[in-house]
Amino acid sequence: MCGIVGYVGRNPAAPILIDSLKKLEYRGYDSAGITVLNSSLTTYKNAGMIADLESILPGEIKGNIGIGHTRWATHGQPNTTNAHPHLSGDIAVVHNGIIENYLELKEKLIQAGYDFKSETDTEVIVHLLHWHLYGEVSSESKKCDILTAFRMTLKELEGSYAIAAVCRNEPGLLVVARKDSPLVLGLGNGEIFAASDVTAFLKHTKSVMFVDDMEIALVRNEGAEFFGIDGTPITKHSTTIEWDIEAAEKAGYQHYMLKEIHEQATSVHDTFSGKVSEMEGSVNLDELNLSNEQIQHLTRIEIIACGTSWNAGLLGKYLFEQLAGIHTDVDTGSEFRYGYPVMCGEVLTIAITQSGETADTLAAVRGAKSYGCRAMAITNVVGSTITRETDSVLYTRAGPEIGVAATKTFTAQMITLYLLALRFGRARGGVNVDDAKNLIIALKRIPGQIQMILNKKDLIQECALQFADSNDYFFIGRHLNYPVALEGALKLKEISYIHAEGYAAGELKHGPLALINDGTPIVAIATKGHTYDKMLSNIKEVKARGAVVIAVADEDDTEIEKYADVVLRIPPSHELLSPILSSVVLQLLAYYTALARGCPVDKPRNLAKSVTVE
Ligand code: AGP
Repeated sequence: MCGIVGYVGRNPAAPILIDSLKKLEYRGYDSAGITVLNSSLTTYKNAGMIADLESILPGEIKGNIGIGHTRWATHGQPNTTNAHPHLSGDIAVVHNGIIENYLELKEKLIQAGYDFKSETDTEVIVHLLHWHLYGEVSSESKKCDILTAFRMTLKELEGSYAIAAVCRNEPGLLVVARKDSPLVLGLGNGEIFAASDVTAFLKHTKSVMFVDDMEIALVRNEGAEFFGIDGTPITKHSTTIEWDIEAAEKAGYQHYMLKEIHEQATSVHDTFSGKVSEMEGSVNLDELNLSNEQIQHLTRIEIIACGTSWNAGLLGKYLFEQLAGIHTDVDTGSEFRYGYPVMCGEVLTIAITQSGETADTLAAVRGAKSYGCRAMAITNVVGSTITRETDSVLYTRAGPEIGVAATKTFTAQMITLYLLALRFGRARGGVNVDDAKNLIIALKRIPGQIQMILNKKDLIQECALQFADSNDYFFIGRHLNYPVALEGALKLKEISYIHAEGYAAGELKHGPLALINDGTPIVAIATKGHTYDKMLSNIKEVKARGAVVIAVADEDDTEIEKYADVVLRIPPSHELLSPILSSVVLQLLAYYTALARGCPVDKPRNLAKSVTVE
């Protein structure tokens, strides 16, 4: 999705803005632009990549303050005219989000004499701001101060926004505001950065201030003043980001995705570290603020998530039901928010979102809260919007994930769900202390077992090459391996562009078998467990129809070789935990397939890392 950046300080703004925009490239975009404020508003914008924008920049652009933008087209083509910044008189604006009432505002502004150049919703913001500041299209004398004009503008906007603006009449001032789109300030020494996320300025500072919904900040190089939309001053404190810049760089890997797959031994370990006691068979999740009694009284869990996070949520459902005996539903944010859910009893809503900014998930959680539910979040991003909308937060400690395809955040989400289900299971008597100890022992082996899979990744690459030209792929699994199958298919389709479907293996004969042809690759997750024999039957079923079966199976399983054409092995583990290991195999399979097909692995077409619009 769009990324916005801003800078005010003592250094030339243009190179800093460009560098910050490059750090946000992973969010997905199709055009880019910057405005530097000097004696005028020096603006460059272009369709295409940031490199295309750089190619039209002069050697030097004077000015120590400016704004920049990467646009992911929603209203209007991805062309130069629609690229941000948008200008009105002496004001320039960049915007991330969607202004829902822009047509109505546009009409009003056209009546007032404003000339619209683009098809974007954003252009209404800059003209509206101009109108509130100057009162008419051609005036240059202010009617009010910029804060008042900004407040009046925001009051008229419906939808979501993170906005940054500079005005020639306000030298040295960067104005930012947000509602439902991420925005954070980075506090440097005599300089301040603004961005959609911290990776944009992490190399300059780790000290940050999060802009909250319906807040405006007046930012100068010596500091930022915060105000509510009603003009009330707000006191803000800074926080320090734990990630360092190395964590957000490629570190010698060809792609972020490959690096992030390799980081999973560490990220999985970091996510459970300090939270489990093998001696006591206990899980410590104090940050939940839920007593044993409150956990015992829960009647239902409602999981809300999108995409990969939804797949983790489905695994969560099986775990909560099996370990804690709590009925659990899993809904996508986009469906839940427009449904009529029955939320009676003690319902705990769990929002799973690595970015913490997914618009549909946020809206669904707000909906759930309006029914009086307690809401908690599982997220990877400290200070993200979801953390401010929920009653408690469990952080996955995966570190920054830049590749659009979620990998290490997915396994960290799964680990967090294990911890939660085990904690609930202990509190509700669904898991006895010995079973808990055994699960924790098995959990602690997972990082080493992930490393074993990574050490043999060449075998997975060989398999990927063998089937890289396929047009269709199917992934099948049962029970805990069903979400693994869904995620395997999602990963493959998003980065390799191969049509891939994930199915509950028992559903094959209810339709999809009609699609199985000679040579259709079917990935069967057939790890040892209570559905193993059923999986063997499904494998025989598809083999009989000409499919080529790639099985993901335990290292010590000799039976599987009789039926599968290729076997990708995982170290034997507890049945409940094997989905984590199988997922790493499928991530590598997708990665190497996309690599073989020459796809842009980290930035797949049409997709964005953080889906901040509906
Ligand atoms: C994952 O590979 C996808 N890029 C996508 O499905 C993603 O999981 C989804 O957009 C949800 O994002 P979130 O976890 O940040 O809410």
